[in-house]
Amino acid sequence: FSQYPENTIVQRPIVAAHRGVPSLAPENTMAGYDLAYELGADMIETDLQRTKDGHLVIMHDYTVDRTTNGTGAVSSLTLEEIRQLDAGIKFGPEFEGEKVPTFREILQAYKGKDVVLLVELKATGIEEQVIEEIEQEGMTNQVLIQSFNLSSVVKSHELKPEIGVGYLFSSGVPSTTEGKLKNAQQMLNYASTVNATLNSSYGSLSKEFITYMRQRGMTSLHWTFRNEQALEKQLLDGLIGPITDYTQWLTDAPIRL
Ligand code: G3P
Ligand code: CA
Repeated sequence: FSQYPENTIVQRPIVAAHRGVPSLAPENTMAGYDLAYELGADMIETDLQRTKDGHLVIMHDYTVDRTTNGTGAVSSLTLEEIRQLDAGIKFGPEFEGEKVPTFREILQAYKGKDVVLLVELKATGIEEQVIEEIEQEGMTNQVLIQSFNLSSVVKSHELKPEIGVGYLFSSGVPSTTEGKLKNAQQMLNYASTVNATLNSSYGSLSKEFITYMRQRGMTSLHWTFRNEQALEKQLLDGLIGPITDYTQWLTDAPIRL
């Protein structure tokens, strides 16, 4: 990464490993999460849904078709059916046998370790159960719940204010900087807690937006970085929290404040 002018304050970015490290291992599997942890990710990002029989499992898509050897909607399959699927074989034979993780499994795997779980709710109506499992594992200070659904974010926050929350936005992001700042202000008004983040897609980023958030003490995370040059530019502009498929690029990269 580039050299910085003299007297520039630099710090490491907060690196969020998007679905693990999908550039090197199958997404949303223990193999991918463990690799993210070994590479030094600060956060591991996961996607949460509920099975037909009420268990919380990790899956990005609403069906298991793309990432496993099975078919069908997560919500139409039981935990037992989902656990029989192979979530690694499509990525490569060396990952054959990887299972679809349960939420409980990842909580227990990283409990007390130096990493935060960035838990995205991909379904509504699961907030209570998610929080209950987090509390049962004593991990309220090690998890951040995020969602594209603002009601879900608000509900999670109201159920357990100690748990950090993040509001995701991408589609419908205002194209003007003024519009983006207004969007940010709405979240800032809501988030009287410091444990709140406003997380936006890469395309909605600008130096002004990053600076605005930082000046208000609010962390913002942004996805999904898959291009090294673009990432370097955004880090030079002060990006604090990249959510990336390439944790391996980032764990010793500085950002400028
Ligand atoms: O962390 C935010 C990002 O994961 C949202 O997009 O589609 O990858 O879940 P998606
Ligand atoms: Ca996600």
